[in-house]
Amino acid sequence: MSLAGRTIVITGGGRGLGRAFAEACAAASSDAIVVADIRADWGEATAEALRKAGADAAFLAVDLGDPKSIEAFAAEVEARYGRIDGLVNNGAIATGIGGKTFEEIEVETWDRVMAVNVRGTWLMTRAMAPLLRKSTLGGRIVNIASDTALWGAPRLLHYVGSKGAVISMTRSLARELGPDGIAVNAIAPGLVLVEATEYVPPERHRLYVDGRAMQRPQMPDDVTGAVVFLLGQGAGFVTGQLLPVNGGFVFN
Ligand SMILES: NC(=O)c1ccc[n+]([C@@H]2O[C@H](COP(=O)([O-])OP(=O)(O)OC[C@H]3O[C@@H](n4cnc5c(N)ncnc54)[C@H](O)[C@@H]3O)[C@@H](O)[C@H]2O)c1
Repeated sequence: MSLAGRTIVITGGGRGLGRAFAEACAAASSDAIVVADIRADWGEATAEALRKAGADAAFLAVDLGDPKSIEAFAAEVEARYGRIDGLVNNGAIATGIGGKTFEEIEVETWDRVMAVNVRGTWLMTRAMAPLLRKSTLGGRIVNIASDTALWGAPRLLHYVGSKGAVISMTRSLARELGPDGIAVNAIAPGLVLVEATEYVPPERHRLYVDGRAMQRPQMPDDVTGAVVFLLGQGAGFVTGQLLPVNGGFVFN
């Protein structure tokens, strides 16, 4: 589970699961961590905390909804690091949008969710691919999907659709990047207790806990091990796969 020698970019690393992934990468001895986020205050705070803990970490701003911003981000990563070994496509519109039926969702919200969660994942992958090809350890991409796309969560259609797209893209990207030795996988967390899910009604939290094979709330640290594994040496021949990490709420 060592990430020694690896430089890893984590989008949406400012808080929540992305921050937990960044901390787990640091704990697994990664060489350098790039925290990418639209929120400079959150991203700087994560990078600062990692540096205090002894890691080589930097914050770089990016708006996944803006193709030009992604290009500028990639140019900065290349200038600073020359190559990367891992990309965690975690940044997404993941909060505050649930609770509306498919008939109530506004077209503007739908388009924004798709632009960030789907197009942003594609464009970030495209921008990082040349740097991942330069990895001498074997490039890794971990896409953060969601088990909502597996069990058909209601009143969240834009988000669910975006995560279903991420799962499908993972499979096609695995085939396109396989010849370059780059493994592409996705994980599907269940409902995790983080800032972003505080707005989720208690009934939905209960539904998850009651429906799990392991009936307890899910914490960020329940998810980090799978991401560290998929970023590391031992996962080099695992590609195109979806790993639900949800205490057995839904099976793949
Ligand atoms: N928390 C859960 O229960 C849960 C479950 C399944 C999947 N996920 C997925 O995990 C990931 C992290 O979710 P979270 O719960 O930590 O949510 P969060 O809202 O706390 O984190 C999302 C991060 O992405 C950043 N972000 C948002 N829009 C961005 C943009 N346009 N450009 C760059 N960065 C942007 C935010 O600033 C934030 O730091 C998301 O992909 C989410 O869909 C979360």
